[in-house]
Amino acid sequence: ALIPIILAGGKGERFWPVSRLARPKQFLCLDGSDRSLLQATADRLLPLANGWENMWVITAAHLADRVREQLPELPEANLLVEPVGRDTAPAVAWGTLEVAQRYGDDALVGFFPADHWIADEAAFCQTLTAAAELAVSQGAIATLGITPTYPATGYGYIEQGEATGTYGSLSAYTVSRFTEKPDAPTAQTFIDSGRFSWNSGMFIFPARVMVNELKTHAPALMQALIAEGVDAYPGLDKLSIDYAVMEHTDRAYVMPVTFGWDDLGDWNAVERLLKQPGEKNVDLATHVALDTEGSIVYSADPDEVIVTIGLEDVVIVRDGNATLIVRKDRTQDIKAAVKQIGAED
Ligand code: GDD
Ligand code: MG
Repeated sequence: ALIPIILAGGKGERFWPVSRLARPKQFLCLDGSDRSLLQATADRLLPLANGWENMWVITAAHLADRVREQLPELPEANLLVEPVGRDTAPAVAWGTLEVAQRYGDDALVGFFPADHWIADEAAFCQTLTAAAELAVSQGAIATLGITPTYPATGYGYIEQGEATGTYGSLSAYTVSRFTEKPDAPTAQTFIDSGRFSWNSGMFIFPARVMVNELKTHAPALMQALIAEGVDAYPGLDKLSIDYAVMEHTDRAYVMPVTFGWDDLGDWNAVERLLKQPGEKNVDLATHVALDTEGSIVYSADPDEVIVTIGLEDVVIVRDGNATLIVRKDRTQDIKAAVKQIGAED
């Protein structure tokens, strides 16, 4: 079986003020269903894990109770709680070490972001089965590549190398280059070349492969975690697995996939999912619109009325003691605003 570890410790600041320090986006229902993104992630991994006893979650201390509340079936021993957030490299390192200790060095591990939307769950399962075969037979880190649609700067880019055969019905390739979050001109050259896919952020590998790659490319991190376990956290640097390992390893393969994927990164992604043909706005509130279009309007309070007149392409979000009004093309900057006002809570 695959041992899935769900990465659920992120902040999701670009959804402020709906996401707050104690309630980041993985705990929100943003796709129009009544399951949170975290619950939906666990739902689709369950068949691959062969049940809850093989499902793991790694999260931050202040979020652990929310995980317990949303995933009551998750065994307590499979909930890894980080005392402080240090980004995904420590999470992948510690998670892999814990799984290797429980199931052995050959355990097949998969890391999954908790905040993605997947269109076709059956295709997702088939793809992961194929990626698992790839990881085992090559002794490698399998990544899933998404066909890019615009020169995004918020994703990793994977350059496809040599073909290395098919797994299930899917082709696999070596990775000739991995570039995390390039600037816009670089992203454009990647798109133009036609050889790149977006990194989906999911990684599948035999535990020993990731342990070796981390020992090679992030030796201080691994030494600290092997010596001290979770107690090492306060002394660790913030670093993502993409920068720590994926940009440097030569053990990575990519499988281009087509199951329909969206990183629910900001309000524009919610619009992509929820906008109905013929509707002028995405109304997640009692919205009275006069000559307003292209807008996304959200209120946490269903009794609240939001009236807009003559607006175009704005996002309005009301929740609790905070209101956000932002032009749709500036939603990436919400993160900076949240930092500036210190208004995460
Ligand atoms: N446990 C834990 N601890 N989880 C974390 C931490 C942490 O310190 N930081 C982030 N996470 C979780 C997030 O909740 C999310 O589910 C996942 O790890 C990925 O982190 P993000 O912060 O969302 O990464 P990103 O979106 O900027 O970039 C990654 O994903 C892209 C695709 O969505 C990279 O892998 C990119 O290369 C990739 O394209
Ligand atoms: Mg993300």
